[in-house]
Amino acid sequence: MAGRVAGKVALVSGAASGLGKATAERLAEEGAAVAIGDIRLEPAEAAAAAIRAQGGRAIALKLDVTQEADWVAAVAEAETRFGKLDVLVNNAGTADGHWIHKLSLAEWRRVHAINLDGVFLGLKYGAEAMKRAGGGSIVNISSVAGLVGIAEGATAYCASKGGVTMLTKAAALEMALLKTGVRVNSVHPGYMRTPMLEAVIEAYRDPAEARARLEAAEPLGRFGEPRDIANAVLYLASDESAFVTGAQMVVDGGFYAR
Ligand SMILES: NC(=O)c1ccc[n+]([C@@H]2O[C@H](COP(=O)([O-])OP(=O)(O)OC[C@H]3O[C@@H](n4cnc5c(N)ncnc54)[C@H](O)[C@@H]3O)[C@@H](O)[C@H]2O)c1
Repeated sequence: MAGRVAGKVALVSGAASGLGKATAERLAEEGAAVAIGDIRLEPAEAAAAAIRAQGGRAIALKLDVTQEADWVAAVAEAETRFGKLDVLVNNAGTADGHWIHKLSLAEWRRVHAINLDGVFLGLKYGAEAMKRAGGGSIVNISSVAGLVGIAEGATAYCASKGGVTMLTKAAALEMALLKTGVRVNSVHPGYMRTPMLEAVIEAYRDPAEARARLEAAEPLGRFGEPRDIANAVLYLASDESAFVTGAQMVVDGGFYAR
C-alpha cells in the first residue's frame, strides 16, 4: 500500500478510543501496519477489525501501560506479527479530577503510573525494538497541561504531563547521543472532542456551563477533533520529520499562544 508511512510498523497505546484510535486509523490509511494496544481488549479488537475492513493491516493487543511485562509482550507481538517496530505512539492516559486537598496519594500515584510510568516503559522497550530495526520514531502524547498549569482539579494530570514533556526531551537527546536512529517528540493537544473530555465535562456540577467555558478557552472557538492530533502524529511518525527530535508540537487551537 502506498502512503506517507508505507512499510512502517506502528504500535499505538490506548488506541481503543479517542485520539489513539484516530491515530491508528490515520497511520493505517497512510500505509502502516498498526498494533492497537489497550487495557480494554474488546474495543481494541473492534478498532483493529474496522481498519482491516478498510483494507489496512491491524492487530489488537492487551496492553496495560503500567505493567512492564505487558510492554515486553506487546513489543514482541508487534515484531512477530509485522517483522519490526518503527513507530511507537505513547498515547494511553487518564485524567484526574481532584483538587489538591481531596487528592489522595494513591490517586496521585495512579495518574502518574499511567501517564508517566507508562510512557517511560514504552520508551524503554519501544526504543530497543527500534534499534533492532535500525531506527524509528517515538511520539509521546503530552498535553497543553504539560506546558502550563490548569486549575480545577488537574494537579496530578499537569504534573504527569509536564513529566512527559521533559522525559521526551531528555530521551531525544540520549537517543541522538547514542546514535540509535530513534527520534522522540511530544504532541500537546488542547481540548479535543473525545470520551475523556466528555467525562471531564460531565464531572462538573454544571456540565453545560463547563462545556461553554472550556470551548471559549480555545482561541479558535471550538474543541479539536481527534483527526487533528492524528495528522500531527502522522507527520512525526513519517520520514518527513527526519530532522525533528526533542520537539513539542502544540495542536491546541491557539490555547498555548495566550
Ligand atoms: N481529549 C483531550 O482533550 C486531551 C487533551 C490533551 C491530552 N490528551 C491526552 O491524549 C491521550 C488520549 O486521550 P483521549 O482523550 O483519547 O482519551 P480516551 O479516554 O478517549 O482514550 C484513552 C484510552 O487509553 C486507554 N487506557 C487507559 N488506561 C490504560 C492503561 N493503563 N493501559 C493501556 N491503555 C489504557 C483507555 O482504555 C482508552 O481507550 C491521553 O494521554 C490524554 O491525556 C487528551
